Amino acid sequence: MNHTAHEATMLMGGNRIIGVGSYLPKRRVSNEMLAQTLDTTDEWIRERTGITQRHIAAEGEYTSHLAAAAAQAALAEAEVEAHEIDLIIIATATPDTSFPSTATHVQKLLGASRAVAMDVNAACAGFVYALHVANALMHHIGYRHALVIGAETMSRVTDWNDRRTAILFGDGAGACVLRATNERTRGILTSTIASDGTYTDLLHTDGGVSTTQTAGVLFMEGKEVFRHAVEKMCQSVELCCARAGITPKELRLLVPHQANARILAACAKRLGLQDHQCVMSVEHHANTSAASIPLALDFAKKNVILEQGDYVIFTALGAGFTWGSCLVRW
Ligand code: UT7
Repeated sequence: MNHTAHEATMLMGGNRIIGVGSYLPKRRVSNEMLAQTLDTTDEWIRERTGITQRHIAAEGEYTSHLAAAAAQAALAEAEVEAHEIDLIIIATATPDTSFPSTATHVQKLLGASRAVAMDVNAACAGFVYALHVANALMHHIGYRHALVIGAETMSRVTDWNDRRTAILFGDGAGACVLRATNERTRGILTSTIASDGTYTDLLHTDGGVSTTQTAGVLFMEGKEVFRHAVEKMCQSVELCCARAGITPKELRLLVPHQANARILAACAKRLGLQDHQCVMSVEHHANTSAASIPLALDFAKKNVILEQGDYVIFTALGAGFTWGSCLVRW
């Protein structure tokens, strides 16, 4: 596939990740618990997906609540106050309300009164899209601090009677604080995003405001999505690395969208990476869509100390299809 045909690109460093935070709802649902009501087993789910459990939001707990909790943790690590934030972008496909945006709900919860707030919907690729947009706006408008959040309540678009999808998804949120600096060789070096709407049928909800006046439930052709995920995520990682003049082997961490451990293993193998270079946290929280990359980064940071100069890349594929990668030099 010709990558340059339908993608947007950025080449410029300086916008650094200075804080990371995440939040998972309290209620944990194990594979065994799902097997009580679905024709499935813990063994099948572990072997085919690597997932052992997922977290499910409580009644009255919304995407904005998850997002705000993750944001507060990221702000604390960054030692940045809410009123210093210029831009809030939330990647979500499961907003609190059709409008206003979930980002404005979060702005209110945080008291981030100076910020411009907006949502980005690129489904599971949402966090990479949001980073790309935030980076571009920071460079072109001059925002100093941005809060980029991935937050989802996937449990609310899950068909709990469909064993093909109900076992895969969970709720959660992750956030990064970005700061504009003059260190052009650090921060987001390059990112790439792409979309191909000819694949909308392979992964979608069967409802929406304009069609059914409901959110609908999720449907996925798993095998097809799997194949596209490996191919497109690897291609975009290779593209970002090539632009930065490095090979994927030089990456300290690949932080892929956490959909299925077998997808991640296939990507790592194709890119020639060792196990320790590929972050895998899907077992703990299942597929949390746009939240999964910052959640995985936060998990990784508990075990890996990132040094100045380390290359970290985020990559994802989501419904649409939408996909992309974002290369950061720590
Ligand atoms: O977030 C966006 C990106 N999302 C993804 O990347 C997800 C991509 N896809 C996948 O992760 C995998 O395709 C799945 C985990 C969804 C499915 O794994 P698979 O190895 O592709 O299984 P399959 O769909 O080919 O199903 C194999 C068998 C079928 O039975 P038969 O037809 O062989 O008799 C299914 O009916 O497994 C059956 N099956 C199940 N069995 C027990 C499907 N779901 C289950 C289940 N428990 N939960």
